[in-house]
Amino acid sequence: MEFNDILRKRRSTRRFSSTQVKQEDLDDILLAGLSAPIGSNLNRDIHITVLQDADIMQKLCAAQEVRMKDRDLARKIKGDVVSAGNEQPVPLPFYGAPTVIIVSHRAQTIQPGIEYANATSVVHTMHLAATAQGLGSVYVWGIFEAMRMNPEMDCTSLLKLPDTFSPLMGLMVGYPEKPLVLRDIDEKKFPIVYLR
Ligand SMILES: Cc1cc2nc3c(=O)[nH]c(=O)nc-3n(C[C@H](O)[C@H](O)[C@H](O)COP(=O)(O)O)c2cc1C
Repeated sequence: MEFNDILRKRRSTRRFSSTQVKQEDLDDILLAGLSAPIGSNLNRDIHITVLQDADIMQKLCAAQEVRMKDRDLARKIKGDVVSAGNEQPVPLPFYGAPTVIIVSHRAQTIQPGIEYANATSVVHTMHLAATAQGLGSVYVWGIFEAMRMNPEMDCTSLLKLPDTFSPLMGLMVGYPEKPLVLRDIDEKKFPIVYLR
């Protein structure tokens, strides 16, 4: 697929078929993740989990389910999704995506914040790779944030991460209920200012 078409087809998919992603497609997505630039040579501080276990998925989503019962907060966090009526009536864990690729990072003291930039670099590269294959995908952040905000419901131990690693974000991947279509890029999405 042409790069410009990948950009125009990329979107957040929130309805997936239950069919598992083919292993060779998943391998390509993971390889794309490994191609991502990582700041401060922190490659060894990144950990990827490929989650395909429905039981663990359900448990990881429990804190988010509770948090989203606060409709005002949900509207603020998921503004466009809630107001466009794009929510699933009974939300499935991870929107029913059969695979979730989770990016965890060791906490940083020298350059706090770089772990989120690194995780985004990996997730976004995989998001574009999934799009190039016609697969649906969407970032996952809220589920991990909900567990950070509610330690009593924190199930990250189920991920069996090495010590001092935390799941920061991820990518849900699967076959989209509706195929990805080209759309225009909004040239006024945010301001671009030249200083020259
Ligand atoms: C850092 C980041 C975190 C996100 N977290 C979530 C999330 O937890 N759940 C979700 O459904 N979408 C999440 N998204 C997707 C955005 O909601 C989505 O990109 C935005 O609504 C624009 O829609 P589009 O991707 O179709 O252009 C996230 C996106 C980014 C960049």
